[in-house]
Amino acid sequence: MKPVPATAPVRLTLRRPDDWHLHLRDGAILRAVLPLTAAVFGRAIVMPNLRPPVTHTAHARAYRDEIMKALPAGMQFQPLMTAYLTDATDAKDIEHGFHDGVLTAAKLYPANATTHSELGVTDIRKIYPVLERMQAMGMPLLIHGEVTEADVDIFDRENIFIDRILTPLLAAFPALKIVFEHVTTSDAVDFVKAQADDGRLGATITAHHLFLNRSDIFKGGLRPHHYCLPVAKRERHRLALIDAATSGHAAFFLGTDSAPHPVTAKESACGCAGIFTAATALDLYAGIFDAAGALDRLEAFASLNGPRFYGLPANADSIVLERGGSVEPAPVRTEADDTILSFTPPGGRLHWRVAPQASERSPRQPRER
Ligand code: DOR
Ligand code: ZN
Repeated sequence: MKPVPATAPVRLTLRRPDDWHLHLRDGAILRAVLPLTAAVFGRAIVMPNLRPPVTHTAHARAYRDEIMKALPAGMQFQPLMTAYLTDATDAKDIEHGFHDGVLTAAKLYPANATTHSELGVTDIRKIYPVLERMQAMGMPLLIHGEVTEADVDIFDRENIFIDRILTPLLAAFPALKIVFEHVTTSDAVDFVKAQADDGRLGATITAHHLFLNRSDIFKGGLRPHHYCLPVAKRERHRLALIDAATSGHAAFFLGTDSAPHPVTAKESACGCAGIFTAATALDLYAGIFDAAGALDRLEAFASLNGPRFYGLPANADSIVLERGGSVEPAPVRTEADDTILSFTPPGGRLHWRVAPQASERSPRQPRER
C-alpha cells in the first residue's frame, strides 16, 4: 500500500454511510455489537443466518423487534431485514414480507457454504418459483457466491460459482436484482463490471478483504482471526478489490460482513469463519481509500451506491472522519462474558476514526496511544 499522502485532508465529512451486509446475531452478542454499527451507519442489511435461521417473514419481524429493543436510547438505526432461503421457502410468505415492508431482500446461502448455512439451498432450481416472484416484485437476491462441492478447491469456489451458478441464473432471470456479496477475486470484479451496466447486478466489498491476502492467514503461524468465507485470495485479487472499491463504479458498495464470534469459537481446533469489523469498519475503509489516493470516492462507495442499487434515498445527515493518531482496535465484551476480538489489520493500527457525535452517546471507545 502507498504511504498516506501528505496532502490528504485530516477531516472528511461524508453523508452517513450504510452497511449493506452485516451479521448482528441475537441475544447478548446483538446487544454488544449493535451500538457499534448504529454509531456510524444509518442502516444495515441484516443477515438471517441465526440459529434457527430467519426463514419466514414472522421471524424477520420478531428479529427486527429484538434489534430495535437492543438499540440504546437516543440512537438512530434502521435494520433492513432479509429472509434465509431454503429448499422449502414459501414464495407467498416472501412476497407478503416484501410488500408489508418487513423484508428488504432474500439471501441465498448454498447449503454448507459457510457459517450456519446447513439449511441453505441444495439446488438453485428448487427456489426458482421464489426467484420468479422476487423478479416480478423487484426484490433483490443476495448471494453467498461459492460452490460447495468437496472436489472444488476452497480458493476456486467463487470463480466456479460464477460459471456454474451465477451466469445461468442471470440468464434465467434477466430482470432479477442480484447482489454478489463479499466478492474476493479479480474475476468477480471483472464479471460484475461486465454485467452491471443495467444496474441490476451489484457487489459488496468487505473491509477485511481489502487488507488481507491468503498469505496473511498463515503469517508466522495459523491466524484464525484472519479466517473468513469466502477466504482471502492472492495479493493480485486484493489489489483488484481495492481498485473496484475506490473506482467510484456504481455497482460496488460497502458491506462489512462483520461477523462476531466469541474468541473461544475462533481460537479452536476447528475455528469458525468470520471477521468482526463493526467497531472500526469505516476507519478501516478510510485508511484504504486514503492510501489509494481516493478519499473523494469514499462517499460514493459507502453512502451513495448502495442506496441507489436498493432504490432507497441516501441518508440525509453526515458524519465526520478524522485522520491522526494511531488507534488499536479494542475487543468487545458481551454481558455473557464472551470476548469478541476486533479485526486488527496487518500493521496493527488505524489512523482514521469517526469523530464522536455530540448528539448521541457514542459507544465507540477504541484505545488510543
Ligand atoms: O466468514 C463468514 N462468516 N462468512 C460468512 O459467509 C458468514 C459469516 C458468519 O456468519 O460468521
Ligand atoms: Zn455474511
